[in-house]
Order: sequence, then C-alpha cells, then structure tokens
Amino acid sequence: MTGGRSGAAGRVRAQNGPVNTWAAPGRVTVIGEHTDYNAGFVLPVALPLVTRCTVRRTGEPVARMVSAQRPGETVTVALAGLAEARERIPGWARYVAGVIDAFAARGIAVPGVRIEVDGAVPIGAGLSSSAALTCAVAGAVRDLCAPELDRRALIDIAVAAENHYVGAPTGVLDQAASLLCTAGHALFLDVRQFGAGPGGGSAEAGCAQIPFDLAAAGLVLLVVDTGQPHENAAGGYARRRAECEAAARELGVRSLREIAGPAQVTRIGDPVLRRRARHVVTENARVAAVAARLRAGADPREIGPILTEGHASLRDDFEVSTPALDEAVDAAIAAGAYGARMVGGGFGGSAIALVDRARAAAVAPAVGQRLTAAGHPRPRTFAVVPSAGAGPVR
Ligand code: GLA
Repeated sequence: MTGGRSGAAGRVRAQNGPVNTWAAPGRVTVIGEHTDYNAGFVLPVALPLVTRCTVRRTGEPVARMVSAQRPGETVTVALAGLAEARERIPGWARYVAGVIDAFAARGIAVPGVRIEVDGAVPIGAGLSSSAALTCAVAGAVRDLCAPELDRRALIDIAVAAENHYVGAPTGVLDQAASLLCTAGHALFLDVRQFGAGPGGGSAEAGCAQIPFDLAAAGLVLLVVDTGQPHENAAGGYARRRAECEAAARELGVRSLREIAGPAQVTRIGDPVLRRRARHVVTENARVAAVAARLRAGADPREIGPILTEGHASLRDDFEVSTPALDEAVDAAIAAGAYGARMVGGGFGGSAIALVDRARAAAVAPAVGQRLTAAGHPRPRTFAVVPSAGAGPVR
C-alpha cells in the first residue's frame, strides 16, 4: 500500500508546479498508555492503514484543503489569517491548517498550496487518525518548502498542530509512532530522553527499533473497534493529565517518570491520584519488561499476559476503559488470545488482541457475538502486523 516510501523525498514535476505526496500510518500501542505525557516509556507499532496527503503549489496566498472523505467540500484559508480561521473551519481542516501554522511558528512560511488528503485510518477509533493526518501533511509540506527539516522536527510540528491549533493536549506517542515506526518492529521510546517540544532532542535519542515480527511468528494483532467514538479533546484526557501532574507535585518530582516503583506512590494522600500514579509507574515497568523480552528474542506470545495486565491497570487504576472495551478484552482472551488490551487514550475506541493468525478468523466473530449479546454495537475487527512508518510516495 505504501511501497517505495523510504529514502529521499518523492517529488515529481506536474503541470502546475511541484507535487509532493506522503503517506502516514495510524498506530496501536503494544504497551505504554498514558505514559508519554509523564515522560515515560511507550511501545507502539504502525498500522498498515495510512492517510495520504498531496500538496501542490498554487501561487495564490491561500491554502485550499480538500478531503476524499468530504466530497464536494473545499476549505479555503488565507495564509495570513490562519489564527482567525480556526473557529470557522471544520475539524478535519483544523489539523491541516494547524500544520501550516506550526511551520509558520518555526519561521517557515508555507506558500500558497492545494492540499488533498485521503485517510484510511478509522476516525475516532483510538487508532491515531489525527496523527496520520498531521504527519502526512507535515511530510508533504516539508518536501515542498523545508527539505532541511528532519523527522524529529516533523514530529514536533505535528504535535504543535494538535496541541496549539486544534487544542488537543496530546503527548508525543502518536506522531512519533507514525513518523518513526518500521515494519516488523515495535518502536521503543523513552520520552524523557527523546525530549519534548521543538529542538527537544533528535529522532534517535531515546528511540530503538525492537524486533516484533508477528508475521514470522504466525501471529497477528486483532484490532477490535468498538464503534464508540473517543474524543481526546474532551475533558477526560485533559483531566488525567492534570491528575498525573498533581500526583507528581505531591511526590515532589518533575514527572511520574522519576518514580521508581509502586511502593513510592503509597505516599500520595488522595486515593484517586494514588491510583493514577500507580498506573503510570506500573505501565512503565510493563513497557520495560515487554521490550526486554522482545529484545532477548522471546516468542512474542510470552508478552500476552503483560498486555492483559496493562488493560486491568487502565480499567481499574486509570479508569479510562469502557464496558465495551472490557467485554472485548475478556471475550478475546476467552476465545484464545494470548493477551488483549484497550489502546489509545480510552473513553471508547479500540482494543487489540494478540492471536495466532490461524485463530483470528474464529476470535473475531466470538468477540463480536459477546459484544452484541451484551447490548453493544457490533465491532469492526481487522488483523494487522507491525507496518512501515510515514514517508514520501513516488
Ligand atoms: C492519545 C494521545 C497520546 C497518548 C495516548 C495514551 O492517543 O494522543 O499522546 O497519551 O492517548 O497513551
């Protein structure tokens, strides 16, 4: 789907000027949820589902944005009036305009452009459709007007678009996954070392490609999209961030990353903050444990129980799961999955289950039946393996 995307920028000459196309994938986190904004560890993989973005120079002082998912709609924004346009443009176009705004904030003036996007990552499913969009746009715009920028800079631009223009207080996980993941690997990221914010670090610092070749092991990750849309910009996610910051303050540390083990969080007086902190501390330990096993060449099946423990922690301590996600996880395990967990920010969205490839065709309907029997919508299920990160399309 995204072959030939590595190496130098894919730039061809078209009649009306240079045309640049990038494709950027969504992600699922193998383990390491709500740890990124606590300067902790994450371990995502890229999905084989991408958003494509084509950028052409037009010579007019505007950005014209169209989406294959919104036929007939063209959103036009004056490049000199990006900030004012924010409130009046539809949500999808804010992500695109936010990227142009983030280039401008770095002193890079994007010329007049037509931007076409086409996304195959399900929206609102906790699979990072927004990062796929911002990363694809950032890559294509970079090739048009700022080829000196490296992937680290593109991550910062994509994060800034979401944080500052869209107004979603996300961490760096989704954008780093989209831009740095490679096929057959999980991306280990130590966010403290990676550094947050513009100029915070390099694409190599705190990053490692961990072998996770599920295809070779006869395994897949079964993605179960519960169909309950999650919404990162809404209160729950921001509240969890604030709770983690409050817990860190009470412990007298800059971030919960500084906390070595769950014993230390017992000093937190408020039981809710104590549970939030315990999730972050134990989740960091789970990422380290999974990465260590995979690095040592263990059978990926061995990590299954750690994924399921991660789900229990998100459900009980962090309280971001939903009855449908819990049901999906339980049903997948009952049907033979080695481990399962909700992915992404929570409050809806998707779960993943680690299953034998040969068993996926049986696990998927079993999960669907359990969910519908419990009164939830029929989920959308699909099997994936760790896929390529973002890059130019020739
Ligand atoms: C969302 C955010 C990420 C991360 C996850 C939870 O996907 O965008 O930065 O915090 O939630 O792990």
